[in-house]
Amino acid sequence: MKAITNISSLICITRSNQPFKTKEDLNNIDEINNAAVIFDENILWIGKSRDLHNTIDEKNYQLDEIIDANQKTVIPGFVDSHTHIVFGGNRANEFARRLQGATYIEIAQEGGGIQSTVKATRLASKQELFESASQLIDSAIKHGTVAFEIKSGYGLDLDTEIKMLEVIQMLKNKFPAEIKSTFLGAHDFPIEFQHDRDAYVDLICSEMIPEIAKLKLADYCDAFVDKGYYTIEHGRKIFETAKKFGLEIRTHADELDCVGAAELAAEMGAKSADHLLFVSDYGIDAMRKNNVVATLLPGTSFFIRLPYANARKIIDTGNIVALATDCNPGSSFNENMQMILWLATLNLRMSMEEALIGSTLNAAYSLDLHNKLGSIEVGKEASFLMLNDVSYKELFYHYGSNHIAKVFIKGAEYTY
Ligand code: NIG
Ligand code: FE
Repeated sequence: MKAITNISSLICITRSNQPFKTKEDLNNIDEINNAAVIFDENILWIGKSRDLHNTIDEKNYQLDEIIDANQKTVIPGFVDSHTHIVFGGNRANEFARRLQGATYIEIAQEGGGIQSTVKATRLASKQELFESASQLIDSAIKHGTVAFEIKSGYGLDLDTEIKMLEVIQMLKNKFPAEIKSTFLGAHDFPIEFQHDRDAYVDLICSEMIPEIAKLKLADYCDAFVDKGYYTIEHGRKIFETAKKFGLEIRTHADELDCVGAAELAAEMGAKSADHLLFVSDYGIDAMRKNNVVATLLPGTSFFIRLPYANARKIIDTGNIVALATDCNPGSSFNENMQMILWLATLNLRMSMEEALIGSTLNAAYSLDLHNKLGSIEVGKEASFLMLNDVSYKELFYHYGSNHIAKVFIKGAEYTY
């Protein structure tokens, strides 16, 4: 058992077991000044520094260590609820071409993009995929991420999709961070099925989903429902099958064009619809009515120079908004959630408080982790970050450097 004392600003987010926050409540981050926390794997007590010693005596707590925060800030660990962190190869040359004017879609149409990562991922061994993903996860944790969602989707055949999902299992065993896995067989169409897309959707439904569900390798099923990729009908068929096999739904939605993917997410009772750059007003409304989390990925708009999602409209109409990296080798090669917080304030026009809640509690809710993570409250896991700063505002103001002094996951300091 340990305590941290002399915390200038403890950002709890909530202490009343709220599963998520919306609207005006997004500006209330439940801050305590001059605070202390007592924890083992879980949080046992939260209060003022001046009450720490009395509490230890009264409750007869046996502490191994009292850490002096030296008037620094403590916030909940970030939850990165949308990543493609397991992949083979590298697309730096594509990025160079994009800087010279080629667009993401043009490169994809020439057989680059997702397809080039599919080739490299099919060729890579499990160990190679595990090692490169481990480096990214280690770096993400050092930048404050304590929970991840990781998707397959660079295999597009049953064997490689299973290989990717098994690598995600290996990562779950290696890292103390919480990891949820998502089957994204419907990411792109494999070259073998380029001229018979419906046949690949049939294969996903008749063979891939049943096998992956049987092996218990995925928590969620996702599909890239967008212009040039999966149609609404494809998405509906895939999601209905996934639900029959016990997988929950999260989806790439309206990233490249407005195709009604957010409405489909609402119809299917998805946990989350992600990207939403071109979502319609109907889609926004349907998501709100069905508690579908709107996961915004500003790193992608930044990296492939697309417009930003209309976060203001999505928030002001009462939707549950979460933030994530979309970490992947093509459209957003970034594992650092602090980068996403900067972009959310400057380019999504979210307040600092909205960005903090979006990257903690609301993201945890989208992964069904809100009972363990997302806020600093008694009973939840002791997974939080000590910043180098006196105020959380510095985290946004001083952009481009790592603000994390210490990362605690389930009570233990992360020291890989
Ligand atoms: O979320 N939209 C689809 N998939 C990824 C891009 C993947 C890639 O380019 O490798 C995304 O942006
Ligand atoms: Fe994505």
